[in-house]
Amino acid sequence: MKRISVIGSGHVGLVTGACLAELGNYVILVDADAQKITDLARGVMPFYEPGLDELVRRNKERHRLAFTTSIEDGVKNSEIIFVCVGTPQKANGEADLSYVEAVSREIARAMDDYRAVVEKSTVPVRTGGWIKRTIKLNSSQAIDFDVISNPEFLREGSAVKDFLQPDRVVIGVETERAASIMRQLYEPLGAPILVTNIETAELIKHASNSFLALKISYINAIANICELVGADVVKVAEGMGYDKRISPAFLNAGIGYGGPCFPKDVAAFIKIAEEAGYDFELLKAVQRANDLQRRHIVKKTRKAVWNLSNKTIGILGLSFKPNTDDVREAPSIDIIRELQQEGASIKAYDPKAIHNIREILPDVKYCDDPYQVAQDSDALLLLTEWDEFRDLDMARIKNLMGQPIIIDGRNIFAPARMKELGFTYYGVGR
Ligand SMILES: NC(=O)c1ccc[n+]([C@@H]2O[C@H](COP(=O)([O-])OP(=O)(O)OC[C@H]3O[C@@H](n4cnc5c(N)ncnc54)[C@H](O)[C@@H]3O)[C@@H](O)[C@H]2O)c1
Repeated sequence: MKRISVIGSGHVGLVTGACLAELGNYVILVDADAQKITDLARGVMPFYEPGLDELVRRNKERHRLAFTTSIEDGVKNSEIIFVCVGTPQKANGEADLSYVEAVSREIARAMDDYRAVVEKSTVPVRTGGWIKRTIKLNSSQAIDFDVISNPEFLREGSAVKDFLQPDRVVIGVETERAASIMRQLYEPLGAPILVTNIETAELIKHASNSFLALKISYINAIANICELVGADVVKVAEGMGYDKRISPAFLNAGIGYGGPCFPKDVAAFIKIAEEAGYDFELLKAVQRANDLQRRHIVKKTRKAVWNLSNKTIGILGLSFKPNTDDVREAPSIDIIRELQQEGASIKAYDPKAIHNIREILPDVKYCDDPYQVAQDSDALLLLTEWDEFRDLDMARIKNLMGQPIIIDGRNIFAPARMKELGFTYYGVGR
């Protein structure tokens, strides 16, 4: 059993803390947001993530999880410190590392003995070096410590499972002591553990996320070609996916990637490369393709309903992907704004995300279910592939709509079946 503190109890920190507690460790969760800490201590989750509330409750009962707003408390009472604060995108595309720096200073001031400081936030290569320097400059005495890079690959919506059953664990270290601490922590998971130097570990995270973004943009480009030549991208992807070198994952054509990671990580990686002296043209093309893909669905809607002004467009799905209430950089935001600019009225439903998007998009009529959205709509636009949308009574939907038009941004409906029901159906790339 290790004593661990996790600084930043958000989507990554809270999952990390709860899962490490589940593995038998004693974990102190720290966050600057006092409301979040009060809520967590009362058992109220700050966001929706399947299985997380149960994990937090169980480990709180076992007295393996504690909550505080004080970094000092966390640092003084633990040997391993995970840094999981946000690294948002700045206007120029770079990652904003001010939270990471602020936390590093506070760790330095509170440290009174050896500590392993683990950088889990997604950070540009060489950030580990900056953390080390900051801690050295801000500690009052010469205390031994290690900085470790341990990038996180969990996906929102399946975060608990991803943490506890990862494809791999990546650890970037400078000392054998640090490697041994991290191995002990992660060995119970039974996953391959890759130990590298700090810079390599940091780079693995940006290289992985950017590759996934590239794969999405690639299949979206293929989808656009399919639309021009009358091919079916779903079948093309299936045909490609059988090839083990390609794999079927991340070959679902759609409206482009969004969320708190891919857009900012791609932008940050372009900047990192630029600063290192490499023009990452390939990733810039990925970024452009993704922007175009969002606009493409608006164009398709315009084509389907003719004039957008005074039309009512129903939106199914607002979160950036299913099984999360996270709407950061969700494609739905840009798409709805563009439709509104052209004079359309928007009705929308999402199983979990309405409370988060209401402030960002106040001029939308939010509905309690998909059938309310369908009522009198001139077209239905599906933007997030929640499972509940797959089981809708589509005959009922058709009868409720003003015009039976479906624009399926995630290709979840069978085109032939939609046609049979009397819908005019538009998918992506088919
Ligand atoms: N969300 C994901 O799916 C995901 C996956 C892998 C990696 N990451 C990376 O993990 C990092 C965190 O992302 P997230 O989605 O968990 O962000 P988040 O916004 O959900 O959580 C960050 C938390 O840090 C807290 N915080 C900020 N400054 C602090 C300070 N000085 N002291 C204490 N707490 C502070 C915030 O209050 C917030 O609760 C980012 O670098 C992100 O790129 C995210």
